Amino acid sequence: MKPYYAKDNITLYCGDNREVLPTLSEASVDFVCSDPPYGLGFMGHEWDHGVPGIPYWEAIQRVCKPGALMLAFGGTRTYHRLTCAIEDAGWEIRDCLMWLYGTGFPKAADIGKMIDKAKGASREVIGTKLGRPGYSLADNGRTNEVYHDLHNPAGECAITAPATELAKRWTGWANALKPAWEPIVLAMKPLDGTLAHNAETWGVAGMNIDRSRIQTADNANGADRKGKVAAGRWPANIFLDEEAATQLDQQSGHTASKVRIEKNFGRKDESQYRIKPVPGVVKDFGDSGGASRFFYTAKASRSERGEGNDHPTVKPLKLMQYLLTLLSTPTGGRVLDPFAGSGSTLLAAKLLGRPAMGIELDEHSCEVAAARLDSL
Ligand SMILES: C[S@@+](CC[C@H](N)C(=O)[O-])C[C@H]1O[C@@H](n2cnc3c(N)ncnc32)[C@H](O)[C@@H]1O
Repeated sequence: MKPYYAKDNITLYCGDNREVLPTLSEASVDFVCSDPPYGLGFMGHEWDHGVPGIPYWEAIQRVCKPGALMLAFGGTRTYHRLTCAIEDAGWEIRDCLMWLYGTGFPKAADIGKMIDKAKGASREVIGTKLGRPGYSLADNGRTNEVYHDLHNPAGECAITAPATELAKRWTGWANALKPAWEPIVLAMKPLDGTLAHNAETWGVAGMNIDRSRIQTADNANGADRKGKVAAGRWPANIFLDEEAATQLDQQSGHTASKVRIEKNFGRKDESQYRIKPVPGVVKDFGDSGGASRFFYTAKASRSERGEGNDHPTVKPLKLMQYLLTLLSTPTGGRVLDPFAGSGSTLLAAKLLGRPAMGIELDEHSCEVAAARLDSL
């Protein structure tokens, strides 16, 4: 099949991945990073009407090497279906990662407004307010429509008063919370033997922990107070955007991690079961700050969507670069995104200088992805 885009080791196919994947070589992909449809009918989009089922994940697995890891973003309401489909297709579920963000908006129905609407009662407009996404409920019972104009994320919306007694009683009740995180399934194609055998035979095994460590603010240059190289904290299965990190730090306050020198476990009978610590090895980081310093924080950029990108679920490039680094192999490895959208995974791969392959059904999204790739 002829690719829609092929430059600098980045290939994008425009088509249904169920048709494209069988044309690709078996065991040719080192890892997968993808953001499939959440099956919520998101903002009325046809492509989001179902969670991809077992045949998708089987077709994806065929092109992966044994031991290949896969990350797939999900929606909090449909994540269970996604995970079951992936597992039923023969993948091993390894973890559930969380991406926490502060920019979500509640798509909630205001019960009071729904009651007035059902009764055909018209509400008096008593003022207007700036319709920050997520902080106002429009008269149609959904979050402020202004959200739908991605180029104008804030605007005026009406404040209305309840028209009926029943609506008065139900003012302040709504049917949804503000979304603030996305689950990400971490799955693995079954290994060929042991991890060691898989690594030697296929060049794929585990995650690149050391390249993904969380740098500490106070010793970001790599040296701790003892002058030893501190590679940072072990990566956690939670990632934050800047806004979520700020909120977390406001709640946690400023704390300091003490420098702790492990001496000995003290009990003779434990030595046969536990690795004896080397005296003088630093086990903590001696840094300070809010709780967000324990997690990777992606810096959100407003400009990275690219001109004309109207895709509603664009992922931050910093986050995608971090995830690709985490899944990379010693030689870098080739990533596949079978639900490429406007190409965020491909852009992240290009920024990292890694080969990548994407598949996207919608031609307009392919056009946007190609333009974004060319603009880098
Ligand atoms: C959640 S979006 C991905 C957005 C992407 N993360 C980005 O940053 O732009 C999912 C994408 O999967 C695409 N898609 C849905 N079914 C597909 C299929 N069978 N084959 C290929 N692409 C598909 C949709 O057109 C949509 O653009």
